[in-house]
Amino acid sequence: MTRILAIESSCDETAAAVIEDETRVLSSVVASQFSVHGKFGGVVPELASREHLRAVVPVVREALELAGLRFGDLDAVAATSGPGLAGSLLVGLTYAKAIAFATGMPLIAVNHIEGHIHAVILEACQRGNPVVFPALALIVSGGHTHLFEARAEGSYRLLGKTRDDAAGEAFDKAAKLLGFGYPGGPVIDRIAPYGDPRAVRFTIAHMKGNKLDFSFSGLKTAVVRWVESHDMAEEIEIRKRLLREKPAPSLKEWLEVTPQRTRDLVASFQYTIVEELLRHAAGAVERVDDVRSLIISGGVACNSGLRAAATQASVGLPVFFPTAALSTDNAVMIAAAAFPKFRRGEFAPFTAAAEPNLALA
Ligand code: KG4
Ligand code: ZN
Repeated sequence: MTRILAIESSCDETAAAVIEDETRVLSSVVASQFSVHGKFGGVVPELASREHLRAVVPVVREALELAGLRFGDLDAVAATSGPGLAGSLLVGLTYAKAIAFATGMPLIAVNHIEGHIHAVILEACQRGNPVVFPALALIVSGGHTHLFEARAEGSYRLLGKTRDDAAGEAFDKAAKLLGFGYPGGPVIDRIAPYGDPRAVRFTIAHMKGNKLDFSFSGLKTAVVRWVESHDMAEEIEIRKRLLREKPAPSLKEWLEVTPQRTRDLVASFQYTIVEELLRHAAGAVERVDDVRSLIISGGVACNSGLRAAATQASVGLPVFFPTAALSTDNAVMIAAAAFPKFRRGEFAPFTAAAEPNLALA
């Protein structure tokens, strides 16, 4: 029996989880910092590291308690070593090193993006319907928009990535601009079904060079222009006031302060991003020989518009999404990605550094 404790602290979630024998999740704890960063409309790196420092020890303790285990019952400790915010990564990685040092357990350094991929591999195994390789992996989150070819588990080739904003960042920036607060993806997702996705025609310029690269900054500028030309200051102020009075408004409350034309804008914005993501996935399907599945993971994989549009019928491949709980940052995915490394004896030295720009391929 092998048990791995994993710690994730790359952005604004402090998380810990214990997995036994590759797929049995014994515990998963996620402490989110939404309430700290919400009022700033985005993650403030200094505040994030401070919150991780506050949370990491209790979160790990809770993960062990829920699993009914002590450090001595574990075989390895894993932590995200990058990519992410330097100060945030450092907290989780350093605590993992301290645990490894104190207990004599091996330390495993995990790439956060590989974690998002393993969230999907893990859940597909649990369902008895494993991901078949070669696969494409589209990782869409607040920090990343990457498209990989995975020939086999652990073997990646980068096909394309964003040249500017990540898909989740585009959701967050548009939501902030429109007065919907942070994080923006979930609110936009809830409002989009109440608007007409074809009401506002956004065009995304096709990339020069690598056609599988993404760019979302032009879309953000288009939303800014639309807002400026539609005299929206008052309704945006009303939404900001609602958020000040109530940190998590209900859908009904959001709809009351969102006129039809804004619902249409939101729906069109989401539709454009989903189309763009799927256009790239389709381009990759053409480019990669004998590809058998498409993995979509990361926070934006929660998006119901994306989930509805990315089907075997539309993509031509079985599509694998994580459940909502494993779409956004968590430590189960880090533990899952650590297992193959444990099997290969791929351990990290105590000198292992936090690498904010760590690449997967
Ligand atoms: O994976 P994640 O938790 O953190 C990063 O690694 O970045 O992703 C967070 C991102 C945020 O930008 C958030 O707005 C977006 O995922 N997100 C969504 C949805 N839920 C979260 N975007 C679109 N629709 C959603 N339902
Ligand atoms: Zn992430």
